[in-house]
Amino acid sequence: MPKITTLTALFAAVFLLTACSEPAVTNNDPKITAEPVVSQQQSEPLLTVYKTSSCGCCKKWISHIEQNDITAIAKDYDDLSFIKNRYGIQPNHISCHTAVSENGYVFEGHIPAKYILMFLAEPVANAIGLTVPAMPLGSPGMEVGDRFMPYEILVFLKDGTSKVYAKVDGYDMQF
Ligand code: CU
Ligand code: CU
Repeated sequence: MPKITTLTALFAAVFLLTACSEPAVTNNDPKITAEPVVSQQQSEPLLTVYKTSSCGCCKKWISHIEQNDITAIAKDYDDLSFIKNRYGIQPNHISCHTAVSENGYVFEGHIPAKYILMFLAEPVANAIGLTVPAMPLGSPGMEVGDRFMPYEILVFLKDGTSKVYAKVDGYDMQF
């Protein structure tokens, strides 16, 4: 009887060793070792979003950009006029929140993430940034049922002028 127990124990040990070697094989899987988790996060554009703490549509817009490969850091202030002044955002270009990229480009209001990524990939010369003035119904973060109000995304320039960057005529154009 003791002999059988020893054999069983030995068999169990060998089995355990085999079982233990399995995760090592998984670790050698090129899919796992090649995945650069950290640098992938670093390559996501980072926006600092200046907003008021009570702004619900701002929070919804932040969720939208975070779902679309942008990292956001929200900063709450009671009065945002200092930030609008700092970046030269004119009264007719103002919206509820102001997002600023690491390299200093400004994204005012409910701009779809798609257009922010497009702009950051190929910035317009002499631009301060993009704006969607006011808060069009149906823009990201401004969903009210399936209502949609066509709107323009403007690029505003250091010389105080602005021009149309994109016309968003349909809900689906935002994604
Ligand atoms: Cu808003
Ligand atoms: Cu907002």
